[in-house]
Amino acid sequence: MVNKDLKDSRRQFLKNTSLSILSIAAFPTVLKSASSISLQDFSNSCNESTEDAYGQGPFYSVNAPFIQNNKLANSNEVGTRIILSGQVYNLDCSEVIPNTEIDIWHADDEGSYDNQGYNLRGKATTNNQGFYVFESIKPGFYLNGSNFRPSHIHFKITPPGFNTLITQLYFQGDPYIPTDAAASITSGSFDATHRIIPLVLNSNGELEGTWDIVIDGNGVSIGTNNIHLDRGMIYGASPNPFQDMIEINYGVFQKAKVCIVVYDIRGQIVATLDEKTLYPEKYSVSWEPSRRLPSGHYFISIKMNDLQVHYIKVIRQ
Ligand SMILES: [Fe+2]
Repeated sequence: MVNKDLKDSRRQFLKNTSLSILSIAAFPTVLKSASSISLQDFSNSCNESTEDAYGQGPFYSVNAPFIQNNKLANSNEVGTRIILSGQVYNLDCSEVIPNTEIDIWHADDEGSYDNQGYNLRGKATTNNQGFYVFESIKPGFYLNGSNFRPSHIHFKITPPGFNTLITQLYFQGDPYIPTDAAASITSGSFDATHRIIPLVLNSNGELEGTWDIVIDGNGVSIGTNNIHLDRGMIYGASPNPFQDMIEINYGVFQKAKVCIVVYDIRGQIVATLDEKTLYPEKYSVSWEPSRRLPSGHYFISIKMNDLQVHYIKVIRQ
């Protein structure tokens, strides 16, 4: 009962927050073009992750090992390197879900699965911020009847104590998506729309992508790993994508020791900005990263009293 009340008030809070973002957006001098990013982060990206119409397919192997050093593919695996990361959320995106097991498998560069061993098969676990990351190679195409299947990665996702979601992830621009019986579905329970993600080529020649997973795991993390939007949030950052400079707009709702921390796609800290005690107010800070910083995805987060309360994704070109 207590948990339910907590959750209800959090839902109500998130609703109010979305509304307040809308009203803040009416003051362009404060937020400039940042509001659209926050709105998109809040309203459009919280979509329950769907099953894939092909289910787990014929090439799943049980008991894959846990991935070591976030590397699903060895350094000598043939193919284009790809780094994927994201967070696992509950159904209304009000909480992240730590300790979620993510069982991953995919074809090699030539479209073949390792059906004897565990090459390109492994399990990841989300950390205490619900975050996962792994590095592999972009899967090749293989024939399914008379059509090639688009490049895809298989996932079995199990929040602790909850049901497993079996699904597949695809990549924007793949020529075989329109003819694929699963990837081309755009509505209903097998809707693949939010499982087709863009990939960005970083300056190390690696592809980067992010995919947030939204799954039924309500109650798993109550009280310990919530998203604390009642304390502060990043409204947005512009321009996004950016090159030499990005301006980050954020709000502090309670007096706290605040810092803005920037992470790369592997979760490594690349910058710490605006570390100070702040009172409730809107703030902005500019970040001019070193020219040597690779292009690619970055996560800008706000920490309050050492607790990460919110983050957004940006892309450096
Ligand atoms: Fe497959």
